[in-house]
Amino acid sequence: MNTTSLSSSSVTSDRAASAPLRPAAESTPLQTSSLAFQATASAGSLGVRGLISEIQARDPQDVPRLLHRSIEALRNLGVRRAHIIVDHSSYLKDVALKAGFKECPGEHLYQCVLLTPPSAHSQLSHHYNVRNGTEEDLIRIGLDLTHVEELAFKPWEFPLIRSQIGQPHRFFKVVEHGGSIVGVSIGGCCGSYGTISHTWVAPEHRNHGLGQVLSDVSLAALHAAGARFVHLMTTAGNSAAERFWQRQGFSRHEATTFLEIDL
Ligand SMILES: CC(C)(COP(=O)(O)OP(=O)(O)OC[C@H]1O[C@@H](n2cnc3c(N)ncnc32)[C@H](O)[C@@H]1OP(=O)(O)O)[C@@H](O)C(=O)NCCC(=O)NCCS
Repeated sequence: MNTTSLSSSSVTSDRAASAPLRPAAESTPLQTSSLAFQATASAGSLGVRGLISEIQARDPQDVPRLLHRSIEALRNLGVRRAHIIVDHSSYLKDVALKAGFKECPGEHLYQCVLLTPPSAHSQLSHHYNVRNGTEEDLIRIGLDLTHVEELAFKPWEFPLIRSQIGQPHRFFKVVEHGGSIVGVSIGGCCGSYGTISHTWVAPEHRNHGLGQVLSDVSLAALHAAGARFVHLMTTAGNSAAERFWQRQGFSRHEATTFLEIDL
């Protein structure tokens, strides 16, 4: 039976084209609701941002309904902002724009394929301790994060992140130094798609490899949780972040972009 793949990244399209339509191995709320249509969508995120990274439907007419269901499922998960990855001129983009998604000029989508676990590149000085973050860490560092312009970290992300600490498909990593939290990485995955939602290193600790280590442990956590494709977004003009992520193996796919909707 033919399957219409409406995914938009080249990685996703290739994979979708060869994959039969079948229930996901892991049943997430989003996938469960979507399968009622005999179609699938994937999303994964931690924080307010949900990511719809793939939609497959036997009949393109199912796509608007599937998208609507996916948005509802994300909203029910507590997500307050969602992104969808689309090709610049595609049917899915038209459907998403009609559903209320908006373009995000200036923001860039970065992606990487994670077929094997990342190898650790660098070692930190013993003054730094990289570990899983706790609720207490989130309370300590949360307010600082809302002041970092590049992160666009919103206060309403806290309850969601807090409720998901320790869940197997979410990660919250911190770097501790002298009793202070000086680095954070937050994200999660759904099925084979992972998202790094936020990465931050305190200005006075930058350029010491902390970012690299945070990326390594985040990608390792995502890989262990089943992610094989990882996405993240950078804001306009953040060339340090773009250079940084490229060094971590991420690249921009010019043919692919993302749209955004507030839920
Ligand atoms: C992006 C960010 C997380 C990087 O953190 P970082 O700890 O400085 O990252 P690293 O130290 O691993 O790498 C930064 C640079 O230091 C260099 N570096 C790493 N270890 C080093 C060392 N021991 N000695 C000298 N230089 C070193 C790296 O080569 C890299 O160089 P580059 O700028 O030419 O690419 C940090 O700049 C940040 O928090 N920015 C604000 C928030 C933000 O933009 N987040 C990303 C949103 S998408």
